[in-house]
Amino acid sequence: MKGLILSGGIASRLWPITYNRAKQLLPLANKPILFYGIESLAKAGIKDIGIIVGQTRDEIMKAVGDGSRWGVKISYIHQQSPDGLAHAVKVARPFLGDADFLMFLGDNMIRDDLKDFIDQFYRDRLNALIVLDKVKNPQQFGVAVIQDDRIVKLLEKPKEFVSDMAIVGLYIFDKNVHSSIDRIKPSKRNELEITDAIQDMIEMGFEVGYGRLKKWWKDTGTPLDMLEANRRLLDEIEGSIEGTTDENTDMKGKVVIGKESRTVNCKIRGPVVIGENCFIKDAELGPYTVVGRGSRIENCKIEDSIIMENCKLINIEKRICNSLIGEDVEISCQGSGSDRYSLVLGSKNRIKSM
Ligand code: TTP
Repeated sequence: MKGLILSGGIASRLWPITYNRAKQLLPLANKPILFYGIESLAKAGIKDIGIIVGQTRDEIMKAVGDGSRWGVKISYIHQQSPDGLAHAVKVARPFLGDADFLMFLGDNMIRDDLKDFIDQFYRDRLNALIVLDKVKNPQQFGVAVIQDDRIVKLLEKPKEFVSDMAIVGLYIFDKNVHSSIDRIKPSKRNELEITDAIQDMIEMGFEVGYGRLKKWWKDTGTPLDMLEANRRLLDEIEGSIEGTTDENTDMKGKVVIGKESRTVNCKIRGPVVIGENCFIKDAELGPYTVVGRGSRIENCKIEDSIIMENCKLINIEKRICNSLIGEDVEISCQGSGSDRYSLVLGSKNRIKSM
């Protein structure tokens, strides 16, 4: 079985963070989202992986490389424009050939063991397997209508309630999906939808089955989704201190401090991850806070936030919470009289209070 990870797209819901950065490389618990996906495929025994890349392809290729670090072989497939998930499969046809393949959305966090779904695909002799999870807001997802334990209909982001079973960003197909993709037409939003291709497979009489998630899953399409996935991952970390903390730093909970990082007079409430080469002084961090490598934080209070690499946050009186701050951002304040900030900032923003 081959793997196909979709890492093209334009990530408009994460602008400006994704103006100059691939969404699949944004860090969760200090590791790019995409790396979790590659790890899952490698763990399930998939060694031949194609990654769909778009305008951020150079960045993704540089970060991921040839896959040897995960013991897999990675090929890159360029999709000129993000014309839909089924379009991505079409573009990948030369890589896929007639092989069965597992398709994974590169911005999804799926904690289940993928091997279970592969086993189900072969055990039930399916032509396609989709994975479902019950959600509270089905209008934001592709959903499946199930009757008598069979999928009867798939719909993309339905306005009226038809089902609360969302299609998770993980699919397994055999070669029959390609002829269905050839038959479908672009949707109203002008994309070749994978849901339409699977619907066509159902109508053509192919065996389309579904699996249910046992663990958690998150589509990290928006800043709030990113923060939620980050919190859930931080709940799973083990503490480890490789940097140094002075005697006035008070730590509770699970805390990771990377090499060459130093904290001075800080109050840290885990789970918190501080990357390498950071300097943190007179600060309150956590819970659920990640600081990217090379950052400097002084006299700030930060909770439930992701601060990416090489940021400089100095003298911010208000507590920073629920924030996503891109790399190289500098915020330095000199005034007083504030309450709270909630920031979503792109790379290289500068905010200064004079
Ligand atoms: P989406 O989140 O549906 O699309 P997007 O990345 O363009 O984001 P937004 O809606 O915020 O503009 O995509 C899911 C995953 O699939 C993501 O990793 C990008 C990838 N993708 C492709 O590789 N090719 C495509 O044509 C599309 C639509 C998505």
